[in-house]
Amino acid sequence: MTDAPLLAAARRDNPEDLVPVWFMRQAGRSLPEYKKVREGITMLDACTMPDLVREITMQPVRRHDVDAAIFYSDIMVPVKAAGLDLDITPGIGPQIAQPIRSRADLDRLPELTPDMIGYIAEAVGLVVDELGGPESAKPLIGFAGAPFTLASYLIEGGPSKDYARTKALMVSDPDLWHDLCARLAQISQVFLQVQVAAGARAIQLFDSWAGSLPAQDYQRYVMPHSAGVLAALGETGVPRIHFGVGTGELLPLLGQAGADVLGVDWRIPLDEAARRVGPAYALQGNLDPALLGAPWAVLAERVRDVIRAGAAADGHIFNLGHGVPPTTDPTVLTRIVELIHTEGPELRRAARATAADQLERTHP
Ligand code: CP3
Repeated sequence: MTDAPLLAAARRDNPEDLVPVWFMRQAGRSLPEYKKVREGITMLDACTMPDLVREITMQPVRRHDVDAAIFYSDIMVPVKAAGLDLDITPGIGPQIAQPIRSRADLDRLPELTPDMIGYIAEAVGLVVDELGGPESAKPLIGFAGAPFTLASYLIEGGPSKDYARTKALMVSDPDLWHDLCARLAQISQVFLQVQVAAGARAIQLFDSWAGSLPAQDYQRYVMPHSAGVLAALGETGVPRIHFGVGTGELLPLLGQAGADVLGVDWRIPLDEAARRVGPAYALQGNLDPALLGAPWAVLAERVRDVIRAGAAADGHIFNLGHGVPPTTDPTVLTRIVELIHTEGPELRRAARATAADQLERTHP
């Protein structure tokens, strides 16, 4: 049996050189059909409604023919389910009623148990059925936020540019920091395990804001917590994607934390990412989302460049370097998927042949 293309690439067992593609935030405000079904329903309420979650998760799969569904939810959903009072404000992001800045605050964040998120298991099951069951060609990707990114929202109280309170707490009260991250790791681990048990066949750990840290602080204060989550999920056997924005300097550590696939943003080309991390990882990325508004001929050539650079890794999952902007014309995304499916394998093979040829000439 041939594996789903996304899983084959993630496992670096991809003899047909397929280039699977999906987009972070493929479900969401770039789609008119999303805005329609979300009308009058808050994001967090929508996430507790299994049939609506199934519909929203499937919308981009139907429209774009992407190679995977990403579960429609949010990194804050399990934190809310555990009992912390928070909201997601459209155009802003998560907002925490009372930020967590002291040991007493931490007591307001209980552990998560699977029975608190029955609606997640139910929604995953509905999506997997619609995709065609446990061996479908298009798998469902489950996800969670990594402890650092979650902690940044909880400590700042909302989105932040510099993570000043987060970093100050991290270095001034390491005990509290580690206890908070351990609790968040527990919550994300259960959130992911529930999704995998219900049928998700790959997972992505989003440490979106970890790129704000120097490598030494990442290694000391953050990596052990993310590594715990990734190790627990490793026991399920599903490929683990580890992603953050601006993590060029952290990529080897993101890999050592226990990833099978490294998500790379647009700041370094994928062949440079492959050079930094070595051959043991598949790569995911990394078209700059800002280019989605460029004229098609220019954009198409950038898509091809990403595929050529991605050929430096034994497995490449095409994606953007970060999420789809809400203003994106969705027909452009459909066209990108078509281009990747028709030209991807040939571009990968040609790029590898050229690389082998150059190696032969420099080291005959
Ligand atoms: O299609 C998908 O990618 C699946 C759904 C998904 C959402 N959030 C839906 C969503 C995923 C994987 C996330 C993860 C998430 N949430 C991250 C990590 C990914 C990343 O972007 O780095 C982060 C940092 C969050 C926190 C968060 N939630 C932000 C920053 C925002 C944006 C606020 C805004 O309105 O621009 C949200 C809200 C959110 N999550 C929306 C969607 C579709 C938009 C709000 C809405 O539709 O009402």
